[in-house]
Amino acid sequence: MIGFSRSQEHKAMFEGHFGFRETPFSVTPDPRFFFSHPLYLEGLAALVHGIESKTGFMLVTGEMGTGKTILLRKLMCHMDARVHFVFVSDSHLTPYGLTQLMVQNLGLNNKEKTRFEMIQDLNSYLIHQLRIGHTVALLIDEAQKLSDEALEGLCDLSNLETDEEKLLQIVLVGQPELITKLNKSSLRRIKERIAIHHHLYSFQTTSEVDHYIRHRLQIVGYDGPEIFTKNGIEAIWHYSGGTPRLINTLCDTALAMACVAARKKVSPYMLMRAAGGLLSEQGAEAAKKDGCLGSWITQDESSALDDPSKALGNKRYRNKIERSA
Ligand SMILES: Nc1ncnc2c1ncn2[C@@H]1O[C@H](COP(=O)(O)OP(=O)(O)OP(=O)(O)O)[C@@H](O)[C@H]1O
Ligand SMILES: [Mg+2]
Repeated sequence: MIGFSRSQEHKAMFEGHFGFRETPFSVTPDPRFFFSHPLYLEGLAALVHGIESKTGFMLVTGEMGTGKTILLRKLMCHMDARVHFVFVSDSHLTPYGLTQLMVQNLGLNNKEKTRFEMIQDLNSYLIHQLRIGHTVALLIDEAQKLSDEALEGLCDLSNLETDEEKLLQIVLVGQPELITKLNKSSLRRIKERIAIHHHLYSFQTTSEVDHYIRHRLQIVGYDGPEIFTKNGIEAIWHYSGGTPRLINTLCDTALAMACVAARKKVSPYMLMRAAGGLLSEQGAEAAKKDGCLGSWITQDESSALDDPSKALGNKRYRNKIERSA
């Protein structure tokens, strides 16, 4: 198996070979690449509505790599300048640290202040923002990693309110363990206040995967002949389970293989090899448990893959593809 690192090397290689303006399948949650699938648009609309109507607490959940962070980044560039965002993605924060970070991000003085004093300053700041028609939203990414103590501390911030509305909008974003966490009796106070919950699922069909891939290629300015064949898209769907991050990793590696092989198309064979690399990175056992990542590549099959013509001739592979059609 050739080891491909996802790096600047890919960028130069892709630009030269396919004529891309930049790497189409980077794993960075760059909002310029935001794919407006209804699932994401609904999530975006729910958060915009929650923030505009000053709901208070909102929750976004989704398995690893389903697009939670890119959704937050999109939200931040989507709303107008009257909404001030504080983006937090630090799992080690204490209640004090979290308040300090908020105050600092909003440009308030946090030197030698107690938490109580900082919350008072924050309250005055938020009331002023309300008067001038502005809104402040705290976005907490990877919230499943926050300590119970830090999560409990959020209640003090969410208590800042007028008679009519919450002064601070708080969006909690995390993997499904976050829900388990919020079910604890000490955190019930938060759970009960959540007015909006959006869950992000992986893509369910090959057509969604196809559109996602085409979209990313279009963003990097590609309008040449088809790079991923129908069989290839089906293979990507099977190997990735429809999870965007895995799709990106597979496509990125397979495109690099196509460049090295001086081919303009990515074959299912290349995708198999890319999935094999992903498997060894992630640990074969974990991937088999998920049941999505190429649990059907055996030693025999990988050696047969040295000959691309055998890849599609492979009975197990063909059956898998046919079953999905
Ligand atoms: N709607 C989308 N449009 C474009 N790209 C997406 C979309 N959703 C996910 N991706 C891509 O998939 C990858 C993973 O997305 P992201 O980092 O947002 O996932 P996540 O849910 O935050 O993962 P984790 O749970 O590990 O934090 C990124 O490269 C991102 O660009
Ligand atoms: Mg994330």
